[in-house]
Amino acid sequence: MRRAIFPGSFDPLTNGHLDIIKRSLPLFDEIIIAVLNNPDKNPMFSVEERCQMIEEVLPTVEDGDCCLIVDSFSGLTADFAKRKNASAIVRGIRAVSDYEYELRMALMNRRLEPEIETVFLMAAEEYSYVSSNLMKQVFTLGGRVEGLIPALVEAKMKEKLSTK
Ligand code: PNS
Repeated sequence: MRRAIFPGSFDPLTNGHLDIIKRSLPLFDEIIIAVLNNPDKNPMFSVEERCQMIEEVLPTVEDGDCCLIVDSFSGLTADFAKRKNASAIVRGIRAVSDYEYELRMALMNRRLEPEIETVFLMAAEEYSYVSSNLMKQVFTLGGRVEGLIPALVEAKMKEKLSTK
């Protein structure tokens, strides 16, 4: 059983994340989308809201034999991966600028759990500039983000802003 985790903040899920999930499907039997519960940050969406949104959007990418699971975690990614018996940590790389940070994380995670490999996947070019933070900023200031985040996520962001 080839099991991987795909950890992240996912605040919120973008089409870039979905692109990475799609690319991971043929590589693993099971992928756990692992939503970080980071109380230090001030997220737009609670962990529960983020997990629920991902669960609702996942059927749009699911196909074939790979099983997709949504879970949340606190603490170290490497500990979570070990606890789940995962052999790989999937991370997406959008541009060279991501590389240094990702390399440091991958090396640290390898030091913590030498048996677990980090697998980098390149996001599609059209998402190379898409990040959750940029999407939140542009959306909050009234800019168009369709095509860059799932429609359901956009609707939830609209709801969030209207209740502020
Ligand atoms: O989507 P993000 O915000 O780029 O994801 C970053 C994430 C969650 C993968 C990273 O911050 C992380 O792994 N945090 C958990 C704490 C941890 O393990 N830190 C050491 C990483 S080497």
